[in-house]
Amino acid sequence: MAGFEGNRVLAHTGARYPIIQAPMGWIARSQLASAVCRAGGIGIIETSSGETDACKAEIEKMFGLTDAPFGVNLPILFLKDDAMLRYICDSGVKFVTTSAGSPKKFIAPLKDAGITVYHAVPTLDAALKCIEAGIDGLVVEGAEGGGFKNPEEVSTLVLLQAIRQQSDIPMVAAGGICDGNGMAAAFALGAEAVQMGTRFVSASESPVHDNYKNAIVDAPTTGTYVLNKKASPCIRALKTDKTASIFEQGLMPADTFARIQDLYFGGDMEASVGLAGQTAGLIGEIKPAADIINETIAQFFEVARRMGAMAQPAAANAAE
Ligand SMILES: Cc1cc2nc3c(=O)[nH]c(=O)nc-3n(C[C@H](O)[C@H](O)[C@H](O)COP(=O)(O)O)c2cc1C
Repeated sequence: MAGFEGNRVLAHTGARYPIIQAPMGWIARSQLASAVCRAGGIGIIETSSGETDACKAEIEKMFGLTDAPFGVNLPILFLKDDAMLRYICDSGVKFVTTSAGSPKKFIAPLKDAGITVYHAVPTLDAALKCIEAGIDGLVVEGAEGGGFKNPEEVSTLVLLQAIRQQSDIPMVAAGGICDGNGMAAAFALGAEAVQMGTRFVSASESPVHDNYKNAIVDAPTTGTYVLNKKASPCIRALKTDKTASIFEQGLMPADTFARIQDLYFGGDMEASVGLAGQTAGLIGEIKPAADIINETIAQFFEVARRMGAMAQPAAANAAE
């Protein structure tokens, strides 16, 4: 499509638009991912729930629900063995993002199977190690985003620039982006795609309870905490009574995720921690995935036109 010629993420994925729906345990399954793919984005199926059989079934379902390309996420430290890796290599999936751990041992088998591999990185050091290991692209995850975080926070704005100063690797910007303004900002810094998590948790097709979606819609930009910075995992989650108490104590109890499904699907916002990023403060409405994608693309080009117009007088002056 005009405007995205030469876009390496689109070349790698075969998608129409450079918008990726983030992998999210239990949430990033076929109902949401297929809606994103049908709208021209890149849906990702999660495997971080650890429900191997259910995730395989979701991947199989995707082939029936859409002809559009989709991806799968492999959270390295969460995988019990290499069963999921072997399954993915034989599955017909063409795009994989890895996260949580070093992708070194995963790159060769995935690439040998004809799969493009991007790894999610929270720091410049991690990015440089992945590039050296032969990764195809990076998901550049800044501290604004929801989910598991690096306790040494680097914003998406700075991290994209730091990586671009050192390398020409294709970059997907993740963290703090929920619309075309954020997408344009990321592209200005060298990104060729964006990945959105919080925005798609609150999409109409997201399988989570309305209480969780509405908590995102109602949250201000200060509506999340970074928790458990001195232990693992460090996370960004919505402010609730439970997360306020974890924030005060500094450490997160080991059983915090035991009842995550009661929060996600039962709507009990105090049952666990509702992972979400700072964009919760920008999201004002539950919308279908197609509207999110179409509006993001339209707004992206509107910003690009405005920025292009700013450059024209400067170009004319320079020519004089
Ligand atoms: C509810 C939720 C669950 C997530 N689970 C995962 C996961 O399983 N694997 C992963 O690589 N990233 C996970 N993330 C991080 C996302 O991939 C993404 O980088 C992040 O959401 C981007 O920031 P945003 O929330 O500002 O859009 C999760 C994020 C959220 C909000």
